[in-house]
Amino acid sequence: MTPDAIKQVRASYAAITATPRQLAARFYQELFSAAPSLRPLFPGDLTELQGHFEAALALVIRNLDDVQALREPLRDLGAQHVHWGARPEDYVTARDSLVAAVGALSPAWTPALEEHWRSAVTAIIVPMLEGAAVHTALAAERLAGEHET
Ligand code: HEM
Repeated sequence: MTPDAIKQVRASYAAITATPRQLAARFYQELFSAAPSLRPLFPGDLTELQGHFEAALALVIRNLDDVQALREPLRDLGAQHVHWGARPEDYVTARDSLVAAVGALSPAWTPALEEHWRSAVTAIIVPMLEGAAVHTALAAERLAGEHET
């Protein structure tokens, strides 16, 4: 992402999250309307999760100019998500739901800003998916090792 695109994403993020939990609430609403089958994977009360989600997002948005720094923590988050039942295709749904949520809450939404947000969220989900893949590969390796002994 260009420095200008990062600046625009940060500005729109700051405007939306001036009202805490607004973005997370809208995100889950968009996600469950796009994919109702995902709802049972989540706790009934989303209040706590909304806080965690916004905190994670805030950290990433702050570090968009150095996404490498967050690669490891995002990989760990992706590995955790394997246990919560997140499948690769769900990440695309989640990305599109998040972009839709930001769009719905941004007064000055433009096709360019939408594209910048799509890039930003893609930069989050790629390491998460890598983490899920590594997690699965390590499980396979452990099993293979067991077989050898
Ligand atoms: C943009 C991508 C995503 C981000 C940034 C994200 C972020 C998070 C964070 C920060 C947590 C809380 C972790 C904790 O409490 O320690 C969480 C939990 C969770 N996420 Fe995601 N997530 C993403 C995509 C997904 C997808 C695609 C699914 C699909 C099923 C998913 C399902 C869950 C579930 C089920 C939980 C745990 C709920 C519980 O506490 O039982 N997430 N996520």
